Amino acid sequence: MLALLVGTRIKDVRNSLMISQEDLSRITGIERTQISKIENGNANITLETIERLSIALKLRVADLFDESYYKKPQQIYVYNTEKLTPFVKWAGGKTQILGEIKSRMPINYNSYFEPFVGGGALFFHIAPQRGHINDSNLDLISAYRSIKDDAKFNQLITKLEEHERNHSEQYYYQIRDLDREEAFNDASQVDRAARMIYLNKACFNGLYRVNSKGFFNVPSGKKKTVKTFNREALINIHNYLASNKVEISSLDFEEALVEAEYGDFVYFDPPYDVFEEQSNFTSYSKESFGRDEQKRLLNVFEKLSQKGAYLMLSNHNTSFIRDSYKKYNMSVINAKRMINSDANNRGNVEELIITNY
Ligand SMILES: C[S@@+](CC[C@H](N)C(=O)[O-])C[C@H]1O[C@@H](n2cnc3c(N)ncnc32)[C@H](O)[C@@H]1O
Repeated sequence: MLALLVGTRIKDVRNSLMISQEDLSRITGIERTQISKIENGNANITLETIERLSIALKLRVADLFDESYYKKPQQIYVYNTEKLTPFVKWAGGKTQILGEIKSRMPINYNSYFEPFVGGGALFFHIAPQRGHINDSNLDLISAYRSIKDDAKFNQLITKLEEHERNHSEQYYYQIRDLDREEAFNDASQVDRAARMIYLNKACFNGLYRVNSKGFFNVPSGKKKTVKTFNREALINIHNYLASNKVEISSLDFEEALVEAEYGDFVYFDPPYDVFEEQSNFTSYSKESFGRDEQKRLLNVFEKLSQKGAYLMLSNHNTSFIRDSYKKYNMSVINAKRMINSDANNRGNVEELIITNY
């Protein structure tokens, strides 16, 4: 009985990763016929075989024996990690410098943490199987959560299609200004998510910005028609989120990291410190992220470093940040600023990538 349960689990995970029995045989060195027997519950498996299979399938050994998995009706989620990309455009998005970041990541780590996930360019690129993503922006996090949940995902698609059908200049402002109304506090997760994605696609330059009262204040992008999602891409994200152990929260970064520990990897991409001569885009949410917040972040970085987590942080190359992190490793890279409300501030800027390893 146990052999069949374990075999079924191996087969499901192998299928969801789109790996053939031949591939798995090549990766693990276990004969293909033996893999077939294991999957059908017809083989006695040694501990060594279990270990090889769990490494190849990126599972923990304990997951193979997790009974709760077998009690659930089985839903197979197929996704392609190479096609996972952000579903919103986000100021500070890291798509341009993924190569620079990736080449500085640790090779092995346990869980992945991203406390300022934003559009999640690195998160989707890595597609971790265990992790925790977080952002203080509740509308954004409502979108991640709605995409992950099977039932909410279908409702979200329906609402996005509704926004697309209704789109006009006037409709944009009607939806944008919903957050000025008391009732918006009771909006459902899916309504918040659909509004956020629609506004992101229909607004000027794909910018998410709120004013000091927390109200979304970006003008319309004046588009005749708006496409809020690509069906195949969104299903791919849904399948990935639904089938992996990725926790999603909307907390302050410090709280979101209480469970990070030795051997975990944390990528920090906070709102950046501003260059002395630079302008004013710091408003992803109504709480601004000034020097006091940067110092609080440094404090969290130091505590986690002492715990033995692998840490990587991006920020502007300002003297304040260089000085704050001077005892860590630092490289300067050039990044393109694609989104800025002031066209003069688009262009190349120097960023730091700081690591504690
Ligand atoms: C630079 S953006 C992240 C960009 C992102 N990595 C990407 O690739 O699109 C910073 C994010 O931090 C979030 N944020 C601001 N203050 C925060 C806080 N105190 N705790 C958690 N998240 C916060 C903002 O909502 C914003 O999405």
